[in-house]
Amino acid sequence: LKVGVLISGRGSNLQALIEACRDPATNAKIVLVLSNKANAGGLARAAEAGIRTAVIDHKAYADRAGFDAELDRQLRAAGVELVCLAGFMRILTDGFIAAWHNRMINIHPSLLPAYRGLDTHARALADGVKLAGCTVHYVRRELDTGPIIVQVAVPVAADDTPDSLAARILTAEHRAYPLALRLVATGRVTVDGERAILDGQAM
Ligand code: GRF
Repeated sequence: LKVGVLISGRGSNLQALIEACRDPATNAKIVLVLSNKANAGGLARAAEAGIRTAVIDHKAYADRAGFDAELDRQLRAAGVELVCLAGFMRILTDGFIAAWHNRMINIHPSLLPAYRGLDTHARALADGVKLAGCTVHYVRRELDTGPIIVQVAVPVAADDTPDSLAARILTAEHRAYPLALRLVATGRVTVDGERAILDGQAM
């Protein structure tokens, strides 16, 4: 399966996906990494792995639709079949999301549907939750919603700071995203309406 990864920053999840794709069992090949930031650390990781990269600076476009049209054009030109959002910090238009319906997945650093949006770690600590984690899900119009593919939970420690909790969740992300990619790329996970299905059964 040909995969395109969209990033904005350091790209540690991209790195986990790159490593996963070295295993034939993942059944996926990253053919393009797109970043809206020229200084994203993930671009070097992709280049190191011999993956084609491109920067599409959102500030060069008059509106979101123009930016998304260029994203779409480049993904299609590369033959991308599945889009993985990995720390991509732009809101996507409804049109782009519809065009990639059930062909675009995202990782979010919370156990959705809790803590959609930003500052998930600080908000979880403020609420005193004892379990946190990450979610890989299909992308829908509403931010951080969509059929859930994989979740990994981690404990919250009494002395956690947002940074220490984020670091623990990040290690979980690096397990969750490769697993989710493999499940999707091998066809073991599919979508039935608004629920992901594993091996033909609700999960
Ligand atoms: C991750 O925590 C991801 O869940 C969130 O942004 C962060 C990106 O980290 N959406 P990286 O760029 O993959 O290292």
